Amino acid sequence: MEEFYRDVVEGLNKKNKTLPSKYFYDTKGSQLFDQICELEEYYITRTEIKLLSKISEELAKIIDNKHLIEYGSGSSKKIRILLDSNSKLKSYIPVDISENYLLDVCEKLEEEYPLLKINKQCADFTKKINLKGIHKNDNKVVFFPGSTIGNFTEKEIIIFIHNLIETLDGNGEIIVGFDLFKNKNIIEPAYNDKKGITRDFNLNILKRINNELGANFVIDNFKHKAVFIKNKSRLEMHLISKIEQNVKVKDYTFNFKKNESIHTENSYKYKEKVLTKLFSDYGFTEGKAWKDENNLFAIKHFIYQ
Ligand code: AVJ
Repeated sequence: MEEFYRDVVEGLNKKNKTLPSKYFYDTKGSQLFDQICELEEYYITRTEIKLLSKISEELAKIIDNKHLIEYGSGSSKKIRILLDSNSKLKSYIPVDISENYLLDVCEKLEEEYPLLKINKQCADFTKKINLKGIHKNDNKVVFFPGSTIGNFTEKEIIIFIHNLIETLDGNGEIIVGFDLFKNKNIIEPAYNDKKGITRDFNLNILKRINNELGANFVIDNFKHKAVFIKNKSRLEMHLISKIEQNVKVKDYTFNFKKNESIHTENSYKYKEKVLTKLFSDYGFTEGKAWKDENNLFAIKHFIYQ
């Protein structure tokens, strides 16, 4: 059974229905996400980009002469700040789950940076990755921006860190960007934008299941919901069934009660100490941390050897 099909069936069979957020990112989903990044309400991307630009020379020193692996490279916008900094890379390895999107983005990047060795890799970074063009003991840094790590529960972060150590083959570094814990009055609008792009992004996962698994979700029968759950430190996105209905996904039929939810995403908002403890507990040494002037977002460097 194909992995996507298996994950969808498994998620929709649960008492509290879920779908893994990594499946948001087909080509359409990746494009909608890029639009989210431009939204007035979505402070995350512009705050991180500003911070990256501010600290680019410090980051340049960290990445210089190493292989730079980017997890969830998407539009590869942020990496340009590092590529344009004062550093020379052994190679740039963008890793993304959305294959066609990765191919498109890299075509442009190759034109713009003819001297850079780009080893694109379509992979799921929640798993171990066999990195292309890297040899044992090569120096490597994983760049994991965007607060994508916020999609993981604590259990999932622990699995992620274990797989990261395997991917790094026992030595390497990570530069991780994460959204900081803050008031819900800032967080919730970022996921309930006026233009409804986040709603479309959330609903797109159902369209994708229709397209790729021949399901018969009626998109209009679901509505977008995004709320910050303070005691869990996370923004949750849900799709709420507007009516009682049955939906077919290949051989399976799923029943939805009126107002029943599919939990589609967690977006954790970390306190710096909490994230640091997770990496430290699993063998990483703390490097430097940076925050923007409004304490919205942080970038942190960890070393494993
Ligand atoms: C890419 C996971 C960081 O959680 O803010 C944006 C994804 N979801 N709007 C986030 C997302 C809804 C985003 N991350």
